[in-house]
Amino acid sequence: MLGLKIKTNPEWIKVAKENVDLILIDHAHCEKKAAGTGFSLLSHYPGKVEIQFFMTELITEEIEHYRRVLEIISARGRVLTRDKGDEYARELISHISKNEPERLLDRLITAALIEARSCERLKLLGEHLEDQQLREFYTELAHSEAEHFVTFIKLAKNFFDEETVKIRTSYFADIEAGIVSRLSNLPLIHG
Ligand SMILES: [Fe+2]
Ligand SMILES: [Fe+2]
Repeated sequence: MLGLKIKTNPEWIKVAKENVDLILIDHAHCEKKAAGTGFSLLSHYPGKVEIQFFMTELITEEIEHYRRVLEIISARGRVLTRDKGDEYARELISHISKNEPERLLDRLITAALIEARSCERLKLLGEHLEDQQLREFYTELAHSEAEHFVTFIKLAKNFFDEETVKIRTSYFADIEAGIVSRLSNLPLIHG
């Protein structure tokens, strides 16, 4: 499960199926924030070439995902509403070290785990939504987010030794599992 320690509660997909428009709107915000994470890493580590190239690719892909979700929302006669924030990501990120170089390691690992959880949730949407086009869309995007997880971990291993990455990934995966188990199955991608 891409480094994740627990699976999503089956109740979540039931709530998601009953609130497809809300899921789509929250999903659009998630894609926008994923691109934002890419921009932030790009800005903070100008001397790290691998980060510069990967973040440039990531931002392009996440913005393309954002555009495609926006198109689906528009086609359904809906409009984007205000981003209410992502409690899940906020709490996970709050555990990131304030000091370098640990901060870089933590930022890459938390980004990887958010991609992993997104991948798991999008895959569930791809398997369970009634609309065939949406199922195909979410299955495709789940693959893309899985690749992002792999690349974030690869990047971490580029700058830190394998054992350190493994231990820290497990540390954050425990925190992530704790957060996910406390979520109330809301119609949000990380709800
Ligand atoms: Fe994405
Ligand atoms: Fe992603």
